[in-house]
Amino acid sequence: MIAETVGADFGVHWFPTAREILVFRQLHEDRCDLVMGLPVTSRFTDDKPRLAFSIPYYVMRQALVSPSVGGVRSAGELGPKLVGVQAMTLSDALVYERGFTRKVYRTAEETFAALATAEVDAIVMESPLAGWFVKKTPGFQAVAISDPDRELPIGAAVRKTDVELKNAVDRAIRQLTPRALPDILLRHGIAVAQAPPTPAAPAPAPPQPPSQTQSPTPEQRAARSTYLTQCSQCHGIDAAGTAAAANLRSFKGTEDEFLKIVQNGRPGTGMTPWKGIISDDDIRAIYRYVKSLAQGS
Ligand code: HEC
Repeated sequence: MIAETVGADFGVHWFPTAREILVFRQLHEDRCDLVMGLPVTSRFTDDKPRLAFSIPYYVMRQALVSPSVGGVRSAGELGPKLVGVQAMTLSDALVYERGFTRKVYRTAEETFAALATAEVDAIVMESPLAGWFVKKTPGFQAVAISDPDRELPIGAAVRKTDVELKNAVDRAIRQLTPRALPDILLRHGIAVAQAPPTPAAPAPAPPQPPSQTQSPTPEQRAARSTYLTQCSQCHGIDAAGTAAAANLRSFKGTEDEFLKIVQNGRPGTGMTPWKGIISDDDIRAIYRYVKSLAQGS
């Protein structure tokens, strides 16, 4: 959208950023005119006199990633949990500083793998990696952690001599920021939503008679979310079955039997074991969710 707004040709070339000199050489040798995704803090920009930097187009934050069900919704809930981090990153420093129990991994991939296999309860990671992981991995959620000292404004670089381009890019970013940009960043998992402020303890609700229209409890909502992300592609959005798998609404067994089947899977079918992936309590909650669908029809 920046290219479109400034009226430039658009093509993407990826370069590993581990050695920044390789990246900036592309600019200096005229192979491209704009490099995206750079911190625009003086610590980064001060020793690069041949470059000019745009205004930031987003702020990279630290994000907390955990399972959508039974996961952690804010750093305040981390308490006794085991938190995975990548060694020597801002996330590592944040988790250490706040005194959470942390387990350190060498790479971002290893950190995500530890979360996926439940070796840790949650991880803290830069928002673009966290957001992208959540995009492509059903069953996980990410929320941004507020920590102003570790927020990095991200912008783009051009050659110092390209004053006109720099100004045009700044104008484009300013123009896109209020409208198109937030949506693009969320859609591509570059930014993640901020955790809602912890609400004050709500007044106890008066007891309500059960009814069809009652709004779902947090447990039901969580069960629905797990069901939709993990089970619905085979058993159907409405749990009424598909060509791939059985109708779960008409499941005749008990909750315990349901639990056993889901824990162990059905060998030789697409129904894989979920033990260790979804907790027993969450499987039971899915059972009750599916049952509630059956009653509603
Ligand atoms: C990749 C496809 C797939 C996914 C995902 C899947 N299942 Fe299944 N499921 C099957 C198949 C195939 C069977 C066995 C054959 C059949 O009953 O259709 C089955 C059987 C079952 C049964 C036994 C049904 C019966 O009547 O005996 C239950 C209960 C069940 N699945 C629950 C779940 C739950 C809960 C999830 C999500 C956590 C889930 N399944 C995810 C494919 C899937």
